[in-house]
Amino acid sequence: MKAEKNLQYPVVGSITRRWSPRAFTDKKIPKAEIKSLFEAARWAASARNQQPWLFIWATREQEDIYPQVFDCLNDWNQSWAKTADLLIITFARTLTDDKKHPITSAMYDLGLAMGNMTAQASESGIYLHHCGGIEIAKIKQHFQVPEHYMPVTMIAAGYPGNPESIPADIAQNEYNEQIRNEQDEFVFNGIPVWK
Ligand SMILES: Cc1cc2nc3c(=O)[nH]c(=O)nc-3n(C[C@H](O)[C@H](O)[C@H](O)COP(=O)(O)O)c2cc1C
Repeated sequence: MKAEKNLQYPVVGSITRRWSPRAFTDKKIPKAEIKSLFEAARWAASARNQQPWLFIWATREQEDIYPQVFDCLNDWNQSWAKTADLLIITFARTLTDDKKHPITSAMYDLGLAMGNMTAQASESGIYLHHCGGIEIAKIKQHFQVPEHYMPVTMIAAGYPGNPESIPADIAQNEYNEQIRNEQDEFVFNGIPVWK
């Protein structure tokens, strides 16, 4: 469905194939594949191996937990994410185990874990759509989140589906080319051209 990426240099297939769908099929993600997504996150590097991440997940068939997770997406994201089989809320733990010191790298560490998860998904034909459009207050309320856990994103995941299953004004994105800055705008072998 997506146009081929305009690569400047070759990269591995899990990166070439990856994009962020908003329309998903009805196909369920096997439980073993879901566990492998979290296993990939588990093996990410983190500062002092503190692993300051936590995930709450639900699949659409789980009537007890899914509605609460879905409720934590903002309205715009809900309009398309309802077709995704799997939702994951990501959290960064901002304090050390003894709760005495901040983990200043928590967001970086969570990002590495999510990079691992995204690559694992792509390798399995599963697509993740990362969402910052979430309702923090609802997450805190539904899941009794302590102060030292920061809700960061929600992931909508599944297999890419028919764009006609989502609102027409959003569906066009499913066909758009993925655009990126050129490497020489952000990679420097010396003093950068700061913008
Ligand atoms: C941290 C983060 C937050 C995002 N938030 C949203 C969001 O709330 N809603 C949405 O539809 N897409 C969201 N996206 C998806 C981006 O818009 C998308 O990754 C970007 O346009 C590049 O497209 P591609 O992933 O298909 O290459 C988010 C992505 C990231 C990494």
